[in-house]
Amino acid sequence: MPQPKRASESITVMTEMVLPNDTNTLHNLMGGRLLHFMDIAAAIAAQKHSNRIVVTASVDNVSFAEPIKLGNIVTMKAQVTRAFSSSMEVFIEVWAEDIPAGIRVSTNSAFYTFVAVDQSGRPIEVPAVIPETDEEKDRYVSALRRRQLRLVLAGRMNPEEATELRAYLKV
Ligand SMILES: CC(C)(COP(=O)(O)OP(=O)(O)OC[C@H]1O[C@@H](n2cnc3c(N)ncnc32)[C@H](O)[C@@H]1OP(=O)(O)O)[C@@H](O)C(=O)NCCC(=O)NCCS
Repeated sequence: MPQPKRASESITVMTEMVLPNDTNTLHNLMGGRLLHFMDIAAAIAAQKHSNRIVVTASVDNVSFAEPIKLGNIVTMKAQVTRAFSSSMEVFIEVWAEDIPAGIRVSTNSAFYTFVAVDQSGRPIEVPAVIPETDEEKDRYVSALRRRQLRLVLAGRMNPEEATELRAYLKV
């Protein structure tokens, strides 16, 4: 069993500038391009935690509340919230910044799940997460019900077995 690691050890901050090739015809960042940036930042956080090759297993719902404009600076902060056997949940937050105008807005957040794999692509055990701050502890606890929800939706868990989720939903 690998040694547990602190949640803070996986913190990854990635910054990108929105260039013409990243935008739609309204000169806003394409949603798919943002998901690509987010996937990379989240994968780096999962690699830092596991010291392994990781693959994206799932992405929870992502809403695009604010357009991100051409020339904006996009900053992503990703961190592993909890690890299970071979999978890790990563929380990622995104901000867009117009530096000349001095405006910075929070635009997105999402939970990604990565699985650590060996050279043949087989899932491999990862270290447990040690949450330290109140925020890390909250996300660590709630990660279990999010895992159950995504596994139920993926048809990988019987809803009857999703005890944490059922207790939360009171069903
Ligand atoms: C993710 C993958 C490695 C899982 O392999 P598998 O043979 O189904 O392995 P298992 O059933 O043993 O599951 C391994 C882990 O993946 C998790 N997992 C599998 N599907 C999942 C999903 N849809 N959502 C969240 N977690 C999932 C399982 O819960 C398990 O986690 P745990 O070990 O922490 O309990 C495999 O499906 C895969 O390689 N997928 C393609 C990944 C990829 O190419 N991503 C990029 C897409 S473009």
